[in-house]
Amino acid sequence: MAPIVSIRNLTKSYASGFQALKGVDLDIEEGEILALLGPNGAGKTTMISIICGIVTPSGGSVTVAGSDILTDYRKTRAIIGLVPQELTLDAFETVWNTVAFSRGLHGCPPNPALIERILRDLSLYDKKDTMLRHLSGGMRRRVLIAKALSYEPKVLFLDEPTAGVDVSLRKDMWQLVERLRASGVTIILTTHYIEEAEEIADRIGVINHGQILLVEDKKALMAKLGRKQMTVELAEPLTAVPDALSSYGVTLAEGGGQLVYEFDASGERTGISSLLSALSQAGLRVRDISTEQSSLEDIFVELVGEGR
Ligand SMILES: Nc1ncnc2c1ncn2[C@@H]1O[C@H](COP(=O)(O)OP(=O)(O)O)[C@@H](O)[C@H]1O
Ligand SMILES: [Mg+2]
Repeated sequence: MAPIVSIRNLTKSYASGFQALKGVDLDIEEGEILALLGPNGAGKTTMISIICGIVTPSGGSVTVAGSDILTDYRKTRAIIGLVPQELTLDAFETVWNTVAFSRGLHGCPPNPALIERILRDLSLYDKKDTMLRHLSGGMRRRVLIAKALSYEPKVLFLDEPTAGVDVSLRKDMWQLVERLRASGVTIILTTHYIEEAEEIADRIGVINHGQILLVEDKKALMAKLGRKQMTVELAEPLTAVPDALSSYGVTLAEGGGQLVYEFDASGERTGISSLLSALSQAGLRVRDISTEQSSLEDIFVELVGEGR
């Protein structure tokens, strides 16, 4: 199946000369939840803003459902929902009108039943006649989500949806995201909360300094996360792995001074104790042992760590 969003060699230099995107390639599959993970300034909002037609790209191309975002702007914008990072709302309008107008603005016929359902889903219905300026920040964020859903987008972008929101909104939001996914909506969310990406996403993309560093299935990343490594420091270096240890798949490091053993931390049988007895049977003297676990956090930090 053709990807619903296809990004090719996308670049963006702002007027200041700053290059916010340096040739991004990314395919987003229909119906998936993709989390874009990256620190502040990575280029997440820039990328989303280009796809939604708010920022003009400097180079490259983006298609949404097969249509070009520049030459077919109206067509692509009609199927994209955006919940922006910043709260941008008209303070003197009511909740109901804001959401209903949003639907009209996107060329959809009125559908009060749908608006009601969206407001109920977001626990906003009892505030439907309240002016936005009387709402709390969390409630306003709910309104932004309702606005984006009002015209039934096929692709929904959530830019840092849970940065600074309360726990109940976060919960409501993830329930909503699950329901939207079940109805076939493709969801792209940006976050710098790793746990959030872990919990909700099908795939995780890591972006930093305007470049996509990795896009991987969450389960594959989790499999890496489950890896542990044990390093055995030997009293005397080896020139080769002894035959007695070959079945463990250990490797030599540090000029033969270390034996490195990788195992699946989530497995019941890690093989550590039998490896240790095999070591002593082989007459190897051990100076020290350390273990290390790779986490998504490690992978993330290693990928985006400054100065690398
Ligand atoms: N209008 C702008 N003019 C100049 N630089 C900008 C503008 N908007 C964003 N930037 C810069 O581009 C980089 C990426 O910003 P942004 O896309 O907002 O990142 P993120 O959403 O990942 O935090 C940042 O260094 C930011 O300062
Ligand atoms: Mg941003």
